[in-house]
Amino acid sequence: MKKAYIKGVGFYMPEKILTNKDLEKMVDTSDEWITSRSGIKERHIAAPQETTSTLGARAAKLAIENAHLKPKDIDLIITATISPDMVFPCTAALIADILDIRHAGVFDLEAACSGFIYGLSLANQYIKTGEYKNVLVVGSETLSRITDWQDRSTCVLFGEGAGAAVVSESHTESEIMATCLGGDGVYRDLLYMPAGGSLYPATEETVKKRMHYIKMEGNATFKVAVTKLSEASLNVLKKANLKKSDVDLLIPHQANIRIIKMVQKNLDLPDDKVLVNIHKYGNTSAATVPIALAEAVQEHKIKRGDILVFAAFGGGMTWASAAVKW
Ligand SMILES: CC(C)(COP(=O)(O)OP(=O)(O)OC[C@H]1O[C@@H](n2cnc3c(N)ncnc32)[C@H](O)[C@@H]1OP(=O)(O)O)[C@@H](O)C(=O)NCCC(=O)NCCS
Repeated sequence: MKKAYIKGVGFYMPEKILTNKDLEKMVDTSDEWITSRSGIKERHIAAPQETTSTLGARAAKLAIENAHLKPKDIDLIITATISPDMVFPCTAALIADILDIRHAGVFDLEAACSGFIYGLSLANQYIKTGEYKNVLVVGSETLSRITDWQDRSTCVLFGEGAGAAVVSESHTESEIMATCLGGDGVYRDLLYMPAGGSLYPATEETVKKRMHYIKMEGNATFKVAVTKLSEASLNVLKKANLKKSDVDLLIPHQANIRIIKMVQKNLDLPDDKVLVNIHKYGNTSAATVPIALAEAVQEHKIKRGDILVFAAFGGGMTWASAAVKW
């Protein structure tokens, strides 16, 4: 078996910033409520002409450049998203077109906020078996397009952006050491978008009932999230033969600062070993982990040999984790 590692990363945040103060003018909420309940201060919102594929392509271009590769070197593109440009074709195909990649395999992966780590796990397998040389994994979201801007319990939480990673064969100690994936459809009603699929195809009624937007039971989601994120993080440490004290940086899904703090406590990690950027970006679903990773690399917060743990959970529910030696 070969070894795989993350060769390059990139991220892109749309220009427009929507602050909590802006939201106060849109729904019955307050900066104080949003900050104290979620840790979010502001989020980025895509311009009307931007889509999940254009955001993803920008992040992907940077990841390919940072990996010192050319677009033609990419063998496979996996895009993790719950807000694709269209139901089909897949957003990965549209990203390939923007980047002029004409020969690669392309598909989308829907595991909600855990999608990027699911994609990383797949990329790891393709590289380890020698099937492919360079796999591009993109997490990209334009969640404002499926957010109900009349529902204060959800619209204050989400943001938009994209992150990407190129996974390639490793000839050094850098490697994706282990990944763990999980999910349970019993929790499907906690966080979902009811209409637009085969169960409730678009009709006048589905539009009238606002069924094409994200629905969430916040409290119940919170509880499952803390349990599953902690379990996933501990499981991947065990699988990679690591101890809690080996972790140099935990990059958790950025859904709520209180969830992150509880997971941090369960892993006995000090503040400086847990990456938090939720105050700036909100919850960008499949994009939170690659955005946080790429930003941490850009800010030199990660050095060669560091042990990183990624962990996420999302609608499904799904959960996933990865242990990476940088
Ligand atoms: C959504 C969340 C922030 C709500 O925080 P909470 O402490 O659980 O708050 P509650 O849902 O108990 O709501 C408390 C009150 O605030 C109100 N409220 C909800 N949204 C509000 C808002 N934006 N502004 C002001 N008040 C709001 C509720 O109506 C409720 O009022 P009531 O007590 O009069 O009924 C929290 O549950 C959460 O983050 N859950 C997990 C969500 C998540 O991770 N989602 C993504 C998964 S990938």
